[in-house]
Amino acid sequence: LTQLIWLSDLHFSASGPVFGIDTHARIVAAVDYINRHHATAAGCVISGDLVNRGGERDYAELARILAALRIPVFPMVGNHDNRELLREHFSLPANAMSDFVQYQWDVGDHSILCLDTQHEGSDAGAFCVTRADWLDATLSKTTRPTLIFMHHPPLPLGLPMQDRDRLQDGDAFLARLKRYAQVAYLFCGHVHRPISGVVEGIPFSTLRSALYQAPPPQPQWTWDTFSPAKEAPQLGVLTLSGSHVTIEFNEFCPSYGSPN
Ligand SMILES: [Fe+2]
Repeated sequence: LTQLIWLSDLHFSASGPVFGIDTHARIVAAVDYINRHHATAAGCVISGDLVNRGGERDYAELARILAALRIPVFPMVGNHDNRELLREHFSLPANAMSDFVQYQWDVGDHSILCLDTQHEGSDAGAFCVTRADWLDATLSKTTRPTLIFMHHPPLPLGLPMQDRDRLQDGDAFLARLKRYAQVAYLFCGHVHRPISGVVEGIPFSTLRSALYQAPPPQPQWTWDTFSPAKEAPQLGVLTLSGSHVTIEFNEFCPSYGSPN
């Protein structure tokens, strides 16, 4: 059995609360929970939006807090991140692409791909030819069951605001994945809501944000009227065994607004 921890959308800020939530206390709560219950997991994947505004102090302080984790961290970029600052403050596997925060690692019987879907200057995601070529080359080299992590979902999920900002050209991305029978599961961040399904025969899940949650699509809301849903954050506990993948969605702190 191999376990992996999955966190997403930390939106950490070194300069005060985000939507009234103490981002420092929230990450400390996640670190404490993981160290207490999952210290033998193979790693913690963070599927993007590590920080709320991409500044030097944000990355420095976040890296300092996450250094207390007893398992290795696998950080990824979202639309709120800065690639250069992320690389300055976190280490990536040696095979990471030089211009993108995109890399592969093996755990147990599985291969894990962490993709970079950032499109600089946009909240929507992109996956350019350079990244797609790397994906083809990497998937061609292994027959291990492969789990793919990416920030932007490649399909609409019935979430009006987030759907607009999904991965552009997601159909082409999915058509590419479909060519590789070993692709076992797709894990996406960005939407701040837990949704699971199957697309092109590939099972997928999204995850709550570690910080604040998006409301359900009904009643309708827009970014202008947005206010976080009163729902507690969760992390994913992935258990991998042979061809089996299970995900537990666990609350690591009981309240939506404070870690206590
Ligand atoms: Fe995002």
